[in-house]
Amino acid sequence: MDTRPFRSVLYIPGSKERALEKATTLATDAIIFDLEDAVAVDEKARARVLLAETLQTSDYGTRAKLVRINALSTDWGRDDLEVIASARPEAILLPKVDTAEHVAELARLLDARPETAQTRIWAMMESPLGVMNALAIAQAPRMAGFIMGTNDLAKDMGCRFRPDRLPLLSALQLPLIAAKAAGIVAVDGVYNAFKDDAGLRSECEQGRDMGFDGKTLIHPAQLAIANEVFAPSDGEIDLAARQIAAFEEATARGEGVAVVDGKIVENLHIVTAKQILAKAEAIAELAE
Ligand code: COA
Ligand code: MG
Repeated sequence: MDTRPFRSVLYIPGSKERALEKATTLATDAIIFDLEDAVAVDEKARARVLLAETLQTSDYGTRAKLVRINALSTDWGRDDLEVIASARPEAILLPKVDTAEHVAELARLLDARPETAQTRIWAMMESPLGVMNALAIAQAPRMAGFIMGTNDLAKDMGCRFRPDRLPLLSALQLPLIAAKAAGIVAVDGVYNAFKDDAGLRSECEQGRDMGFDGKTLIHPAQLAIANEVFAPSDGEIDLAARQIAAFEEATARGEGVAVVDGKIVENLHIVTAKQILAKAEAIAELAE
């Protein structure tokens, strides 16, 4: 069971030295070092060199490190890969993934270099075609996770932003289900109003309830809320421990079902309970 936390996944423009430096001390589970939409066209070349250098010299500790390159069909994608490969990136995040072939194409380029032998691929789910092909994409070579690109999705869907995200719900859930089916991570999209804590919390809670592993963030001020909402709560941890204990007692008595707080507990609930405890433990280890 992979219990590495992805509660908070912070975008950092690859062109911003100050933010790159700051991220070495921020409480984020993962970082997306961006060369795509957060970097202006005339900054692209400088940003990729700065980022390759920074990845080799800065210590980001246990934080997962994803480099978002430009799509391979653009003027910059292949050069991004060429320069970033020297830093032996643990993961490349590919934007605008419409088909499994987009992932396979990147996988072949990674296969061709010894420096990227271990590099995993993450895919942005941000187009209607990508959403409809989500399962094949999730099962493509080297795939480790999906990042929802909700701004691009809303644009292509022609849908409106609403606090309940009802117009986007199917477009969120199809990739989420595909990710679960393929056993990869799924991280929810950004909340644009980065000074609106209550709105962020409510959207994090919705994403958490749906089954997302965490939320992509654009500003450090959003970290604490995502880390809190996507972590198991004290109540969940307590209940999980009591369910496991009660089930063990029931099993010892030769019974297959226990009752905790008036609800039945079967083997499948124990799987969830153990996942909750493992996740809580992995988060506690991060804090040490
Ligand atoms: N990662 C790391 N550090 C960040 C950061 C980020 N995404 N965003 C801001 N910071 C840092 C700033 O460098 C600043 O540090 P300092 O005070 O130690 O110098 C501090 O946090 C406060 O920043 P603030 O002044 O409030 O923000 P800003 O006005 O400079 O920038 C944004 C606001 C939205 C432009 C900026 O947060 C940003 O670029 N976010 C990422 C956007 C992005 O990547 N989008 C692509 C995906 S949707
Ligand atoms: Mg996008």
